[in-house]
Amino acid sequence: KKSEAWSARFSEPVSDLVKRYTASVFFDKRLAEADIQGSLAHAEMLAHQGIISAQDHADIQRGMAQIKAEIADGKFEWLLDLEDVHLNIEKRLTELVGDAGKRLHTGRSRNDQVATDIRLYMRGAIDDIGGLLRELRVALLDLAEQHAATILPGFTHMQVAQPITFGHHMLAYVEMFGRDAERMADCRKRVNRLPLGSAALAGTTFPIDRARVAKTLGFDDVCRNSLDAVSDRDFAIEFCAAAALVMTHISRMSEELVIWMSPRVGFIDIADRFCTGSSIMPQKKNPDVPELARGKTGRVNGHLIGLLTLMKGQPLAYNKDNQEDKEPLFDTVDTVVDTLRIFADMARGITVKPDAMRAAALQGYATATDLADYLVKKGLPFRDAHEAVAHAVRACEGRGCDLTDLSLDELRAFSTLIEADVFNVLTLEGSVAARNHIGGTAPEQVRAAIAHVRAQLG
Ligand code: ARG
Repeated sequence: KKSEAWSARFSEPVSDLVKRYTASVFFDKRLAEADIQGSLAHAEMLAHQGIISAQDHADIQRGMAQIKAEIADGKFEWLLDLEDVHLNIEKRLTELVGDAGKRLHTGRSRNDQVATDIRLYMRGAIDDIGGLLRELRVALLDLAEQHAATILPGFTHMQVAQPITFGHHMLAYVEMFGRDAERMADCRKRVNRLPLGSAALAGTTFPIDRARVAKTLGFDDVCRNSLDAVSDRDFAIEFCAAAALVMTHISRMSEELVIWMSPRVGFIDIADRFCTGSSIMPQKKNPDVPELARGKTGRVNGHLIGLLTLMKGQPLAYNKDNQEDKEPLFDTVDTVVDTLRIFADMARGITVKPDAMRAAALQGYATATDLADYLVKKGLPFRDAHEAVAHAVRACEGRGCDLTDLSLDELRAFSTLIEADVFNVLTLEGSVAARNHIGGTAPEQVRAAIAHVRAQLG
């Protein structure tokens, strides 16, 4: 049986196993909408250039409209025998409109067709992700605003370092996700170029108008080399790299949420709808969503490496290897989209516990640097100030108290430069309020930073 579009030159059909091995329809049917969109733009150009008749164009439009409806209604029959999304749709079109359907592929190859489809699909995905990053940032800005002055310990090496505000901490993620949005927008520029017209690899003998197709499809430009256009997937790799960074940022945040929700820390609670219980331990409420997001980062990172490896050994031009680009790409999009959507929602389900944060900030000598800075301002060189405060911390450790618990006389034992005004800097509020410059943790700066990002978001 010779059913394949290309089977006329073959003397025997492929085995069922080979058919299944080489077919992509069960995953690339996701490209159907883009495929139809691309075909309609191509057909319009062919008609405009007099390569096909106006009647053929009209028939193709009619057939494609029906196919779209069949797909939307779940009535379209996808056949493994027809290999991929492109041949499935073309075959159905020919069933519906006859010769006009057979003329659609004039001046085109599946190679430039699939490259166009992926770019159209990715452009949509990038726009979706851009919108979701924005929603997440807005949710984090709102949380930051509510807690512009809520104090918690900041950590380095997971050791108490200096007091910070929770708003400032949230704004760190707002920055990360802002850069992620920039990366996505930058990647979009290189995605949004048209491969069609490259045909199989060398271009076509028909008098095509590539700029016209680009304009119809909303591409900024045409790909300038046909060999490159059909074969490289660097735009998809770039997207996966940007996606891996999105997930990396999500994962860092997840790690913090999990730690903060541990009863040992108790800085936050996460709304029940994002948590699950245990089938054996009745008391459990587990932060499943951040844990899963942290876990899913692994597969997105893996897809990046998968695509890089897919590309690295390919000679010009198109090779079937590239059919393997789709599943990693689709899974990356699905994972990032679902994760961002759920995080934007979850950010609004975070309850901050200021008392627990404050109690933690009062342990661990978080204001030691403030005391050192105080001594420097009184004229002591910083290294000497550092040493004096280290002695004070050591004494506190011996007594099991905090720096703020020492009396003025006790403090003066470490430096006679210390005076009564020292208590202004040893408080948590004094410490954060003093870091009052762009990028600093002072509540005033947190509010200014929020306003700055809000203005950028428009
Ligand atoms: N399904 C193929 C892909 O995903 C379409 C292009 C196939 N071209 C070819 N000559 N076999 O890459």
